[in-house]
Amino acid sequence: MKIAVLGGDGYCGWATALYLSQKGHSIAIIDNFMRRQWDHELGAQTLTPIRPLSDRLRIWQQLTGKTIELFVGDVADYDFLESTVKAFEPDAIVHFAEQRSAPYSMIDRKHAIFTQVNNVVGTMNVLFAIRELRPDCHLIKLGTMGEYGTPNIDIEEGYITIEHNGRKDVLPYPKQPGSFYHLSKVHDSHNIMFCCKIWGIRATDLNQGVVYGTMTEDFSIFATLCVAWKLRATIRRNKASAVCTTSSRNNFRYSSWRAWWKPLEKSWG
Ligand SMILES: NC(=O)c1ccc[n+]([C@@H]2O[C@H](COP(=O)([O-])OP(=O)(O)OC[C@H]3O[C@@H](n4cnc5c(N)ncnc54)[C@H](O)[C@@H]3O)[C@@H](O)[C@H]2O)c1
Repeated sequence: MKIAVLGGDGYCGWATALYLSQKGHSIAIIDNFMRRQWDHELGAQTLTPIRPLSDRLRIWQQLTGKTIELFVGDVADYDFLESTVKAFEPDAIVHFAEQRSAPYSMIDRKHAIFTQVNNVVGTMNVLFAIRELRPDCHLIKLGTMGEYGTPNIDIEEGYITIEHNGRKDVLPYPKQPGSFYHLSKVHDSHNIMFCCKIWGIRATDLNQGVVYGTMTEDFSIFATLCVAWKLRATIRRNKASAVCTTSSRNNFRYSSWRAWWKPLEKSWG
């Protein structure tokens, strides 16, 4: 299967690209390296060193013989996205390519608008590209648990049955997002649901909770690829006791990863 991973330079996207490549799928990463620019803008450094994507792709190829294609560009630029989708012809698109920080979206008007334009326009472009170029392509989109907020009743999977003034209906579960970032995800969800309804495209909108850890099976097999390997080595050298904590978090993240992909792979046959 040909799978495009949008945002594949990022935390979730890179691990997903490796996992699917290792499973034998043909992978293309699409990214404009925006996240690295946001770090520069804020004077922030990632906790763990992240090697340039071109290095990581080269090492992956050397170690496994598997090639991951790279398309550098902005998903919110439809001309770029259209030409990329035409060139790669994906059977599935995994869409991680968004501004993903709630605090960043709350800095001021400029950052709030940037977050919503980048995220909402990017997802709209993906939806239109699927409709116009690859109508059978399955979209897997990363939303967030934070779309729901913290209601004082159980959160249902997408929908809730409501009885009101003697009549009953199954309606989308109410969303109470807590930032302009979370609002952008709610707008995405509405647009995805609407496009599925009117065009019949196939999409899975994952309202994912926080993902933890710095290690997956693919990283641990090929240790040079682990974004955290230098840090872990330093921790060991310093005889700090943090490694156990890291490893139990890794397991959590790893199983949450599997929980996503198993049912999706089944549905793809
Ligand atoms: N990490 C988590 O715990 C978590 C939890 C729930 C949902 N999510 C969602 O998953 C997705 C990925 O999260 P992450 O933690 O890997 O973030 P990340 O910032 O590490 O990765 C996002 C990647 O997308 C790229 N990108 C952003 N806008 C782009 C654009 N317009 N065009 C091309 N590339 C663009 C960035 O350069 C970056 O490499 C986000 O949408 C996020 O909201 C993440």
